[in-house]
Amino acid sequence: MKLNEILGTEFPIIQGGMANIATGEFAAAVSNAGALGLIGAGGMTADMLREHIRTCKSLTDKPFGVNIMLMNPAAAQMAQVVIEEGVKVVTTGAGVPGQFVPAWKEAGIKVFPVVPATTMVKRLEPLGVDGFIAEGTESGGHVGELTTMALVPQVCEATSLPVIAAGGIASGRQLAAAFALGACGAQVGTCLLVSEECPIHDNYKQAVLKAKDSDTTVTGRSVNAPVRILKNQMSREYLKQERAGASREELEKFTLGSLRRAVFEGDTKTGSLMCGQTAGLLHQIRPLRTIFEELMGDSRSVLAEMEAKWR
Ligand SMILES: Cc1cc2nc3c(=O)[nH]c(=O)nc-3n(C[C@H](O)[C@H](O)[C@H](O)COP(=O)(O)O)c2cc1C
Repeated sequence: MKLNEILGTEFPIIQGGMANIATGEFAAAVSNAGALGLIGAGGMTADMLREHIRTCKSLTDKPFGVNIMLMNPAAAQMAQVVIEEGVKVVTTGAGVPGQFVPAWKEAGIKVFPVVPATTMVKRLEPLGVDGFIAEGTESGGHVGELTTMALVPQVCEATSLPVIAAGGIASGRQLAAAFALGACGAQVGTCLLVSEECPIHDNYKQAVLKAKDSDTTVTGRSVNAPVRILKNQMSREYLKQERAGASREELEKFTLGSLRRAVFEGDTKTGSLMCGQTAGLLHQIRPLRTIFEELMGDSRSVLAEMEAKWR
């Protein structure tokens, strides 16, 4: 089954939850543009999440969802808020949502955990989740070790549930590759940072547009909190301290509030500009609808081109 049929959307594409960026307004704009918008609850309180859900509902009659970061101290309250507000889709990041899944399923919510490796699939499938978002290390934000190329087919082999590919998808060619790897659709984040509707500071958008393929790095591996961001003064100092054996507390001095500084103040020096490895493919700021239509149209052309090549 194609992801758009599972979700009731026009395109088989999910906008990845992005803490401090994916507001109710942005998620509604994504849903109105034909993909599944997700409210990124990562940096929110449970009350804020409720407000964003209500805003989203007031701006779209299309399906939308919520991404809950399980390390958020309010995750348990948020798990209840999505039920009370009648949210239809929940994705989870940074942990195992086992304790919340039965109540979500009882409420008719479709649940898609983000997985960085097949071990998580084995633990989560028996809980009755609806599928998996297999996220490769190419992606922006919190990352695992495996690449999308290696991970997606192995997750497909580990489960008969739908698998959505994430990480490194910003063009029709990459979307076609995701289907070739066995996915039923894709989750994207980085390519939407440079959408007209994305509410990040213009300095952040310009930094993403300027970035080349090798301009991202991963901070936090030594403290088990790897995050892919654009290289800047902050990442250089962070990595220097990390190499010198700094503790988690010392390293947190760099990252505390750093995403907010990038998103709201446009601080490209000490801010944390989360961004994936596909940034080098992004050359202009465009409306969400144009981005989705191009991804779909180009992927169809690529698949036709492939068929001709192999025939
Ligand atoms: C700026 C940014 C913030 C992100 N924040 C979150 C988050 O809060 N929760 C989450 O599950 N994933 C988060 N992600 C990952 C995305 O949901 C998505 O899986 C990823 O962006 C897909 O890979 P791509 O960046 O190569 O498109 C974030 C990604 C970016 C670029």
